[in-house]
Amino acid sequence: MALAVGDAAGIQRGSSVLDIGCGMGDSLLLWKRQYGCREVIGVNITESECTAARQLVDGSCKVAHEDGIEYLKYTSDKVDVVVSVDALYHVDTRRAFLQQVPIVLVDSSSGCFGAVDMFGSQDLMDINGDVPGFWALFRKSPTSCILLHFLSLSAGIPIENLLYRSNQLANLKSVSFMNRQVVTEKVFLPFSSYMFKQAAVEWKARKFYKFLYLSGAASFMHFVSITGLVEVVVYAVKFHN
Ligand SMILES: C[S@@+](CC[C@H](N)C(=O)[O-])C[C@H]1O[C@@H](n2cnc3c(N)ncnc32)[C@H](O)[C@@H]1O
Repeated sequence: MALAVGDAAGIQRGSSVLDIGCGMGDSLLLWKRQYGCREVIGVNITESECTAARQLVDGSCKVAHEDGIEYLKYTSDKVDVVVSVDALYHVDTRRAFLQQVPIVLVDSSSGCFGAVDMFGSQDLMDINGDVPGFWALFRKSPTSCILLHFLSLSAGIPIENLLYRSNQLANLKSVSFMNRQVVTEKVFLPFSSYMFKQAAVEWKARKFYKFLYLSGAASFMHFVSITGLVEVVVYAVKFHN
């Protein structure tokens, strides 16, 4: 998926890249080695993951412990491309984040943002693009309202990020899509069956805590998949002044 994002965003040899939600740093090394990036900066909100990422990259990339939006607001760094692999839906909110991205681009007319991201599979925003309150949403679609709130609370995803479809991109007039590709079927079911297999391995090794964790996460992912409430999309975004 990280390679699909890098290709969609048009990362090139010598590019400087900012990775929002870089996790434990695997993608930072990927941008460096696979694309020959000049500079790679990772940002992540979880301190323990930043520590793991710093150990992995061993000084070859900068890793900042910060919320993605706050980082964009206050950094003096300028980069050619901003990317995010499986993390942007956590940011509060995607709409606020995208409005900040041009600030950190060396050239906001040629630079871009690329991501693999999760959206709602139906548009439940108000007609004027505002986030409906719980009861307004419930009246519109009770099942979706309950399931999306459950997903939002259990996975730490701001509800707004799940209330519009990927082809609307938060009703932002100043952005346009490129290279949009829906990859939902390549993510949830394959990943949940992989995790079920790993859980079975842990069960055989009598590591019951890991077994419970993995089978719980696999079941949750399977549940998300069969509800059909969300879609996973690889895309790039261009910005207009
Ligand atoms: C599913 S993981 C993906 C990690 C990594 N990109 C990868 O593909 O392995 C989501 C990551 O986003 C980070 N994250 C969540 N909210 C964030 C925020 N507001 N700003 C920056 N990182 C955030 C989490 O700490 C977590 O590491």
